[in-house]
Amino acid sequence: MNQRSYDRALHTRRHLIRRFGVAAGVFVAAPLLFREALAQVSFSDDPFQLGVASGEAAGDGFVIWTRLAPKPFEIGFGLPSQPVEVEWEVASDEGFRTIVRADKAIANPMMAHSVHVEVDGLSPARPYWYRFRAGGVQSPVGRAKTSPLAGAPTPRARFAVVGCQHYESGLYTAYRHLAAAEPDFVFCYGDYIYENGGTPASATTPPALANRRHLPGEIFSVDDYRRRYAQYKSDPDLKAAHAAAAWYPVWDDHETDNNWASEWDEKGTPPELFRFRKQAAFQAYYEHMPLRRSSLPNGASLQLYRRAPIGDLIDLNLLDTRQYRSNQPCNDQSAGCADLNSAPHFLGDVQEAWLKQGLSASKARWNVLAQQVVMMDLDRDPGEGYRANVDSWAGYRAPRGRVLQHIADARVANVVVLTGDEHVNYAGEVHLDSRKSGSNPVAVEFTSTSISSGGDGQDQTTNDQAVLSANAALKFVNRQRGFMLCNVGKDGWETSVRVLDKVSEPNGKLSTRATLSVAPGSNRVTIG
Ligand SMILES: [Fe+2]
Repeated sequence: MNQRSYDRALHTRRHLIRRFGVAAGVFVAAPLLFREALAQVSFSDDPFQLGVASGEAAGDGFVIWTRLAPKPFEIGFGLPSQPVEVEWEVASDEGFRTIVRADKAIANPMMAHSVHVEVDGLSPARPYWYRFRAGGVQSPVGRAKTSPLAGAPTPRARFAVVGCQHYESGLYTAYRHLAAAEPDFVFCYGDYIYENGGTPASATTPPALANRRHLPGEIFSVDDYRRRYAQYKSDPDLKAAHAAAAWYPVWDDHETDNNWASEWDEKGTPPELFRFRKQAAFQAYYEHMPLRRSSLPNGASLQLYRRAPIGDLIDLNLLDTRQYRSNQPCNDQSAGCADLNSAPHFLGDVQEAWLKQGLSASKARWNVLAQQVVMMDLDRDPGEGYRANVDSWAGYRAPRGRVLQHIADARVANVVVLTGDEHVNYAGEVHLDSRKSGSNPVAVEFTSTSISSGGDGQDQTTNDQAVLSANAALKFVNRQRGFMLCNVGKDGWETSVRVLDKVSEPNGKLSTRATLSVAPGSNRVTIG
């Protein structure tokens, strides 16, 4: 069955027969989707408590997502163990006067009653509005913009960079501001959930966070992960950010386990057992993200790396630096690790070749590596000696060198690396070896802070100032919570660093801490 046929198979049998006539026979072999009766549902609680979302914007459409969950923390999530029919509509106006696409989809209990509809046939570079309906209940309305067509003249794009949203650590105020800014799209670098067990509120817990706790115990099963996503997605500010723009999500480590690498977790679990956890985590990740069917997991593997063109302005290379990497050198201990050349893989052979080929072929003004962990080879020890973050690209110098050498050799223009992970705003230059004097940068990097992880934070620590002066390639450090807003044109790239004074109290105040610019052809960051 081809991709299109398979997508169609998610509709009801009656609908299929009406649409395809005798050809519908080929679908009968597909298990359960049509043989099982649809549940006739009526809800006493709102089935759309987890909101709506869109993602994977392209020139002709995007994915729209929801998950029915009237009782998101109970066994069965308040739904029958049967598929449920969900109607969806896409309109060209906010008031839904002109419906341009509408159909039915099936929320299947095998995917936690989530719905992923790949909407196509839309016009490029314009906003649309979408909503769902199930059991007579209407969902909230979401807004999503289609991308400009690949290669089409595109003067500007404005998008946000987000991630690291530990639920216990702070409020999601940043997302309320992001939603109000209505960016063209959102890039999420990962740590959308955290897998650790809850820390009970104590005397020092800010009152606003006292009821914002994980359930006790680390999560392992698919239902554990589902409850964790449901808890995060119940947040009104996060729901607003999803409803405001289409996202391109990638994961980092905490959607599965801290600092995992390919087959290995940090506890030394045998790979054949860790695979069960990956399978549960990947399934729940797919269920809760507005991804295309091409990312549907197959056991403990999920195709996450992909490319999204934004007209002729940006090629967004969305990378997966977790699933194919070698184990971290030096047992993932950065102190005294001198073995930084030993790890052979970071992207894995296939993704690395795909990335290099894509960068060589790109005609876009800006080539973005949208990914998880810092690429600058920063010395984290401002004193004598050199200390790398071995979970980042710096711990994998061989594959890092191959990618950067390719960018230099193929003269790939205007490479911008977008990163998260560290809960710090960083901006600087990416060098093959930044300790070599007179070296020229081959890219720039913007590391976006966290939405909430790490709590309120501060502008800079004394150590940050020492790290800044020990690393000439590093130009900017800030340790507050927030997000980056990138305003990109042919004539320049501008990253606005949006920070909050507090995430431990409601209504934190947002300000622009810095505006960081890159001129085309420079590979240098200017602070405004
Ligand atoms: Fe994080």
